[in-house]
Amino acid sequence: MTQILEDNNIKLSQDNIPSHIAVIMDGNGRWAKKRGLPRVAGHKEGMNNVKTIAIKASKLGVKVLTLYAFSTENWGRPSTEVNFLMKLPIDFFGVFMPELMQNNIRVFATGILDDVPEKTRNIIIKAIDETKNNTGMILNFAFNYGGRADILEATKRIVKKIQNDELVIDDIDESLFSKNLLTNTLKGFSDPDLLIRTSGETRISNFMLWQMAYTEMIFEDILWPDYSPENLVEDIYKFQNRDRRFGKLN
Ligand code: IPE
Ligand code: IPE
Ligand code: MG
Repeated sequence: MTQILEDNNIKLSQDNIPSHIAVIMDGNGRWAKKRGLPRVAGHKEGMNNVKTIAIKASKLGVKVLTLYAFSTENWGRPSTEVNFLMKLPIDFFGVFMPELMQNNIRVFATGILDDVPEKTRNIIIKAIDETKNNTGMILNFAFNYGGRADILEATKRIVKKIQNDELVIDDIDESLFSKNLLTNTLKGFSDPDLLIRTSGETRISNFMLWQMAYTEMIFEDILWPDYSPENLVEDIYKFQNRDRRFGKLN
């Protein structure tokens, strides 16, 4: 078993790096409030941290890093905040694209992009296109994503295929259902191995409900803008010490 010693004196086993890590990046608003700043200042700081954590994850050998950036429920926030969050991808790719390229990172998005403003959608599609030949980690943004919406849309797609005589009811199994979810683009890595949620909340908030059936979960009290590469190493270490049984006995 190859072990690599990280900066914070933690030995990570190279053979057991979680392939797909999903993060609920929570606590931006509280981070700003603590400093007497407007909530959006927390989102800006959170955006900068996305780059830091993505580069660390890619160096550690993570295959897919999914970041929950905007949920289908976040539309219910005040419009000034929603508008700011919708513009963040434009800033993010505008500033960090060269570093993503240098790190061979490939951008993906999982979410209902049809419903996001055109300019934002186009920027995301452009980033996906510009990084399509990169062969390193997939940085997957869950943007306008909701677990229930994902399951409902998959159901509709399957029903439509039955109506068109492309499928019969008995064809529906877990594998077929998974293939009709938005995460299908992640191919063999659609289900997260590890979920990390920052900010101390211990809930899923409509994230990948189907995909997380057997995901290991870690809830950290740290607010997302403060979550550091050392924290990521610690969480992967915790993951490596979990016993994933998948319902079996060892
Ligand atoms: C997470 O931070 C980012 C998004 C939901 C877009 P929050 O904005 O939820 O921050 P808190 O939870 O209010 O502190
Ligand atoms: C979850 O955080 C969504 C994202 C991080 C994008 P929220 O802050 O929206 O979740 P709740 O409201 O605390 O459940
Ligand atoms: Mg929150």
